[in-house]
Amino acid sequence: MASMIAKSDSTALDLLLEKVYRDGGYDFREYKRGTVTRRLERRLRAAGTRTYLDYMGFLDAHPEEYQRLAEDLTIKTSGFFRSPYTFQQVAREVLPGLVVRKIKQRERRLRVWSTACARGEEPYSIAIQLAEFLGHRLWDFDISIYATDISRQALHEARAGIYSAKDVEGVAATVLESYFTHRSQSYVVRSDIRRMLRFSYFDLTSTARRPFTGLDCIFCCNVLIYLRGALQERVLGMLYNSLATPGYLILGEVETPPSSLSDKLECLDSKAKIYKKSERGR
Ligand SMILES: C[S@@+](CC[C@H](N)C(=O)[O-])C[C@H]1O[C@@H](n2cnc3c(N)ncnc32)[C@H](O)[C@@H]1O
Repeated sequence: MASMIAKSDSTALDLLLEKVYRDGGYDFREYKRGTVTRRLERRLRAAGTRTYLDYMGFLDAHPEEYQRLAEDLTIKTSGFFRSPYTFQQVAREVLPGLVVRKIKQRERRLRVWSTACARGEEPYSIAIQLAEFLGHRLWDFDISIYATDISRQALHEARAGIYSAKDVEGVAATVLESYFTHRSQSYVVRSDIRRMLRFSYFDLTSTARRPFTGLDCIFCCNVLIYLRGALQERVLGMLYNSLATPGYLILGEVETPPSSLSDKLECLDSKAKIYKKSERGR
């Protein structure tokens, strides 16, 4: 009996996620079910519904619920320089080679994509790291850091670039002083850093589309963990095709590329999860 209920529940969940995709435009069909069901419970309760089927009726009557649901299903935990070791290794393993090559080729454009940027902590950290690394040569480059996410709320906050004291806890005092303006209770990212960022909505599950090509570096951190294996593989395939050659891919600490990409990506640091698309793999 228990397994019958579980089975019919999972069919109803499939139907609900199909509806959310078809009518709401958010594709959670291939997300790992644990997080999705836990967080859905919250929305069901908030909507005053008991079953997935009731909730589908609620969605029909309240289409604004789709966005609330998407906000609740996405986990926005982040932080400035969230993985300090990764940022340290990016400065050691990625930036010197990348910058020297650009200078040699007299190429001014440097393009980075932060694929699940949450409230902006990651792309602003990247911009600050570039500013630190390049010093006065920063202005020799035309830098674009594309920062995308499916949380419209997170993108709105990211664009504002205003953070609380708690948000910037752990950020070195020298970095705070150089790249933020302290206004009463908040820290605002300085405008010369913000100028490098371009925020927009992009859903990583739409793997048939590549919003950018020829990128120097892609950060795809702490989002793949929520996706099932087959979708992870499609997302990483799309990201691989969006990179220039050479180009660098940085994943979250617990994320790894699938075996289908292992001989196309050279691992530069297995702990920092830094990979290079090189001539060899093309
Ligand atoms: C845990 S945060 C990671 C933030 C940042 N990359 C980091 O490592 O600190 C996960 C982010 O992925 C976003 N996200 C989830 N599914 C997504 C999708 N299909 N496309 C784009 N972003 C997505 C969420 O909205 C959330 O902002």
